[in-house]
Amino acid sequence: MTAQTATGPLAGKAAIVTGAGQGIGRACALELARAGARVAAFDLDLARARETIAAATEPASHIALSGNVSHSSEVERAFAAMDKAFGRCDVLVNNAGTGSAPNDGSAKMYELMAKKNEDLKAGRAPSVHVEQTVFMEDEGWRGVMAVNLDGAFFCTRAALRLMARDGIAGSIINIASTAVQSGEGPVHYVTSKAALVGLTRALAREVSSRRIRVNAVAPGPTDTPMMRSIPDEWIRSLEAATPLGRLGRPEEIANAVRFLAGDESSYVTGSVLVVNGGSYFF
Ligand SMILES: NC(=O)c1ccc[n+]([C@@H]2O[C@H](COP(=O)([O-])OP(=O)(O)OC[C@H]3O[C@@H](n4cnc5c(N)ncnc54)[C@H](O)[C@@H]3O)[C@@H](O)[C@H]2O)c1
Repeated sequence: MTAQTATGPLAGKAAIVTGAGQGIGRACALELARAGARVAAFDLDLARARETIAAATEPASHIALSGNVSHSSEVERAFAAMDKAFGRCDVLVNNAGTGSAPNDGSAKMYELMAKKNEDLKAGRAPSVHVEQTVFMEDEGWRGVMAVNLDGAFFCTRAALRLMARDGIAGSIINIASTAVQSGEGPVHYVTSKAALVGLTRALAREVSSRRIRVNAVAPGPTDTPMMRSIPDEWIRSLEAATPLGRLGRPEEIANAVRFLAGDESSYVTGSVLVVNGGSYFF
């Protein structure tokens, strides 16, 4: 590990970003590095985490880590590697997330949606209900909860242990979603993100005496590989329903994360910072 020579508002700080291999997580890792932090880019896909680091300011100051946030042993291993490399943890960004899992009923829902569109195009009243929950198996529900919620908990616990050990007034940032307020999205996804806001608020109170701050960022529709996996017509309707008329850019979410990570936001805790182009007014 090279000596830290960075300048910027986060110089001297060490940050870990989950799901840093692409999309919003990659943008967060790059932005925190640009602001002077040493960054651990943690992702299921090590090659993509390495690509993130290679694109960062001072690549040699950062590390790429592989693992699945929904397995606590893999999370422990990642934080031990971070501790070995940086000797501290100042910032955690709980970004890894998914909107689907095997056997979650989404395939059936897409089928029904196609049928409904067919009916509408033919000028008929819809002959089906577009729904997912009745087709969702236990595995599908748990798969999304495991990544979005268990993963955030495992990482938060590991980060808190390091922050508490060193008396660090750290910052934890949970990537939630505008869907918490709008209700738009699959029930397992929206429920997991709402729970993440609950985690944010309860933990902000619990760790306040350590001066550790806990906040959430609620992105609206943002142009990432996850977003590009949904049908084009949905993307067009999301753009049309957004007052600013376009999807967000991952860098725009990362700017909010950088603000919450450092001292600029020293009096902000337990909050949800909404970055959604006006797609839903909280
Ligand atoms: N894109 C949007 O419109 C949008 C809107 C609101 C909230 N969000 C949230 O922002 C976060 C990032 O979204 P994105 O669009 O960049 O997603 P993405 O699918 O493009 O990227 C997610 C990254 O997380 C990694 N990842 C997934 N599961 C993991 C696991 N179990 N362990 C470790 N890494 C894992 C993936 O490998 C990938 O690199 C998610 O939590 C998502 O719910 C996204």
